[in-house]
Amino acid sequence: MIACERETEVKVLTFAHNLPTSHPVHKGVEAFKTHLETLSGGKMSINIYANGNLGTEREVLELLQIGSVSMTKVSASAMSNFVPEYLVLGIPYLFRDKEHFFSVLEGKIGEKLLEKGEYVWLRGLCFYDAGSRSFYTKKKPVKKPSDLEGLKIRVMGDRISVSLVQSLGAAPTPMAFGELYTALQQGVVDGAENNAPSFVTSMHFEVCKYYCLDEHNYLPDVVLIGTKTLEKLTSQEQKWVFEAAKLSAQQQKKFWEEAEIESMEILKASGVEFFFPNKDLFRAKTEFFKTDFFKDEKRLKIIEEIEQSK
Ligand code: GCU
Repeated sequence: MIACERETEVKVLTFAHNLPTSHPVHKGVEAFKTHLETLSGGKMSINIYANGNLGTEREVLELLQIGSVSMTKVSASAMSNFVPEYLVLGIPYLFRDKEHFFSVLEGKIGEKLLEKGEYVWLRGLCFYDAGSRSFYTKKKPVKKPSDLEGLKIRVMGDRISVSLVQSLGAAPTPMAFGELYTALQQGVVDGAENNAPSFVTSMHFEVCKYYCLDEHNYLPDVVLIGTKTLEKLTSQEQKWVFEAAKLSAQQQKKFWEEAEIESMEILKASGVEFFFPNKDLFRAKTEFFKTDFFKDEKRLKIIEEIEQSK
């Protein structure tokens, strides 16, 4: 678990994340490794630990802070508990479409967010596409917000995810992603919400047969390096890391697109029923997030900037 395993020959960085190796985000991380090896002419490499083997998103972020894991990829949700500005990205129906999403994240706003974590020893390298999140349930379908009333829905542990589910009438249950399959199976929760590739690769679709495509938010994943690790690299090595990450993000977009299509096919073939609800009903109940949820000027300004961005 040390950051640089062989100082003299190849500098090997550890990369830990919580998704399965069949996931398009993992494929992005593999592309990152290939680019780093190519750019550095074999002087640098990455050891990838998937499946949450080194801990939950929160735990791995803490390992980055102390320098015992070099890099990770977490949901912006997990990052928001370390850098509050990230919370803005979870606002329901904030991004108009994928084009808007990428122009914000690949532009100044995204770059500023990536830099923001430095004061908590977490430097962002790039964003990965994590699609839009929608509800899936076990016992009964959700076709409109009122169908969520009384249901226990697993959420990620950030304030927006919790309040979002509350505002739709359900009971939010924060829990790590790795614990969710068993929780669904045992009826600890009645459902969850996620993008299609995560719904599929986690095998949650074996338990939940209803998918309500309300697409309540586009929450990106963030690739990060601990500043403790970064400081130990030469400026040339740092450049390779930044460049390889950016290149992998471009490739990951394609992996994502393919995985989304493939996942929907797998879900269909497995008997999962899809519902395409009237999103305006969900939008109406969550509109207040843009205007009334945050009280601080800083975050209200980011929301304004995102909304005004082309
Ligand atoms: C997505 C995201 C993960 C996150 C997961 C979750 O799959 O990519 O980083 O852990 O959602 O719901 O917890």
